Amino acid sequence: MVASRRGSGSITLPSGQTMAIHTRTHEDEDLPHATKKTMADHLRKYESLFTLTPQRMRMIVEAFKDSLELGLKKPEQVVPMIPTFVFGWPSGKESGDFLALDLGGTNLRVCLVTLQGEGKFEMTQTKYRLTEEQKQDEGQKLFDFCAECLKTFVDTNFTDGDGKSLLKPGEMLPLGFTFSYPCVQERIDHGKLIRWTKGFGALNTEGRDVAEMFRRSIQKYKVPVVMTALINDTTGTLIASSYVNPRTKIAVIFGTGCNAAYMENVKDIDKIKDLGIDEKAQMAINCEWGAFDSFEHEHLPRTKYDIIVDETSNKPGEQAFEKLISGRYLGEILRLVICELIDEGVLFLGQETYKLETPYVFETAFLSLMESDPTDELLMIIGIFTHFFAVETTLAERQFFRALAMLIGRRAARLSACGIAAIVSKMGYLDEGCLVGADGSLYNKYPGFAERVHEGLFDVFGEKGRNIITHHAEDGSGVGSAIIAAMTKVRRDAGLYPNV
Ligand code: GLC
Repeated sequence: MVASRRGSGSITLPSGQTMAIHTRTHEDEDLPHATKKTMADHLRKYESLFTLTPQRMRMIVEAFKDSLELGLKKPEQVVPMIPTFVFGWPSGKESGDFLALDLGGTNLRVCLVTLQGEGKFEMTQTKYRLTEEQKQDEGQKLFDFCAECLKTFVDTNFTDGDGKSLLKPGEMLPLGFTFSYPCVQERIDHGKLIRWTKGFGALNTEGRDVAEMFRRSIQKYKVPVVMTALINDTTGTLIASSYVNPRTKIAVIFGTGCNAAYMENVKDIDKIKDLGIDEKAQMAINCEWGAFDSFEHEHLPRTKYDIIVDETSNKPGEQAFEKLISGRYLGEILRLVICELIDEGVLFLGQETYKLETPYVFETAFLSLMESDPTDELLMIIGIFTHFFAVETTLAERQFFRALAMLIGRRAARLSACGIAAIVSKMGYLDEGCLVGADGSLYNKYPGFAERVHEGLFDVFGEKGRNIITHHAEDGSGVGSAIIAAMTKVRRDAGLYPNV
């Protein structure tokens, strides 16, 4: 019998659950387990399914570029390439107090940002967790909740010690509303929701102007704010990153969702030619690239697990690119592979596996933890499987799970590199090089994600791919939103609003 080894510690997952780990390995086989050889054979199969060759990546980049160009030419394309009415880069001198409300994928956040000019800022914020019900209930109720949280925040932060308001009578605070879902904009403070993404499904919202709905809620709760700008998190990230580092040309979010923004020449956005905007101007484009290859599924290498994820989602056919990359789906892809091996009698024979059978129980955070397990015996992986799913694993199985996580995480990073490469190549940034501001839980917490994106860029472009460097971006949804609100205020004061 192999001697037992012990390990202990605790981890907190994004869902808020804390896991205390007290584990020991016991390789004495009292349960029928898959052998090392079986697991190695299976791994080879998944390796070929989840690996993207450089040649395949270059084909994806070409198709991606075509989609980006089509989206700029005509309205209502698969990749919508949304003009944001954010004109040009910040000067870095923007200053003043601004509020930002951030409705992302998981949380609601209210921020007070003080821009100090010269690329500097300070921020105070409060976070609220959104429930599953709120994401699916009436849309107006969701905006009411946003307004209520905003009111509490303003009441707390703009009163003196005696509870008296610090605002002058009639004073309204400028607010940037970061609403990170695809919205077609006619002006910066307007946005018609094309469709919900990231598992949201709030009723009576798609096809409507969400800025208007939110304004109604602000009035209902009498919050002393004026919403100056409706912003996507990618656009906010682009502007915030450029505020502190002007070499940033592209911004990407790798979080619950996946998307990018960049600055385009107005003369190259054919579909808004009729607005008569100065051709020399530049405007940020929210690509909504998560939708690449949706509906037709012609270009992306989808496995049968990806197809199940898609077909069982609340939006089948949609967000095809995002479903292979973002944090919302990676854990589920891995869970589906495990379930298949359970069905085939390869894994966990004789053990109760029902806990693994519920969709989305396998969080993407588990993949990061599995990949970063530093112990030879993979004690962290033992902890995950015993604590959350009540199943025993052997070392061979744990090594297999870790390798599988690596394949799924690596594919996500390499596909992301294809998206970045498409923008770089379309805009001609390769020779000169550029910075890509990146944010989101995958980018920030998944071990090796950035390195794998860089490796992917090298595989697409060769040596020159090293000119494209991702870096951890400034908080686009908070700070970026505030800077855009400030830029918009300057344009309004100069009589340039809505779109001259
Ligand atoms: C989804 C949304 C997009 C957002 C991204 C990252 O793709 O549709 O608007 O930017 O998630 O949060």
